Amino acid sequence: MQSVVILISGRGSNMEALVRACPAGAQVRAVISNRADAAGLDFARAQGIATDVVAHRDFPSREAFDAALAQAIDRFAPDWVVLAGFMRVLTAGFVEHYAGRLLNIHPSLLPAFPGLDTHARALAAGVCLHGATVHFVTPELDGGPPIMQAAVPVLPDDDEDALAARVLAQEHRLYPQALAACVRGEVRLDVATGRVQWQADRLAAADAALLAPPLRA
Ligand code: GRF
Repeated sequence: MQSVVILISGRGSNMEALVRACPAGAQVRAVISNRADAAGLDFARAQGIATDVVAHRDFPSREAFDAALAQAIDRFAPDWVVLAGFMRVLTAGFVEHYAGRLLNIHPSLLPAFPGLDTHARALAAGVCLHGATVHFVTPELDGGPPIMQAAVPVLPDDDEDALAARVLAQEHRLYPQALAACVRGEVRLDVATGRVQWQADRLAAADAALLAPPLRA
């Protein structure tokens, strides 16, 4: 059974989706937050999942926080460390420690709109399509290679909340599917080249036109 550790900072709806649709062969062993008041911790506890809080404010530097966080994570011998609304910038040392097994979900079609306020920026830019990306994490913020993306239309009357809700519904489908592909060994990060590699027959399993692995070069 592969071990999954999920990191959250708040609501935790993506974590909840991952717990509810946990891929066969994997188990969510722990949910860890940098904030004691993260609402998602209550759901995890109610599911009988181990929880922990490593509060960034208790540490004098990013390096010290990341070292404590890694120690908390590694107690669960994770095959996968899954960032789900985890709102801390991670050090290169932390990212390298989990190279190839560290995933994130970002609420835009990367490389468009890295960083914060993605929905407002998508509206301001007037794009027709917006969405979410699950990617391997590399030291560059929101810069790691995409594993799967889900696109949604931007509609004429959309405000930030309406667009965020449409994207979030897709995030909840996307993240379990991307994690499942990782757990089944269908996709991996080639750490040497920084590129994602899919098994040749994986394209046949693509769920729908709006949910597909990135096209191969
Ligand atoms: C999601 O939109 C995710 O893409 C982003 O932060 C939000 C977290 O939401 N990284 P939740 O905590 O999973 O509900």
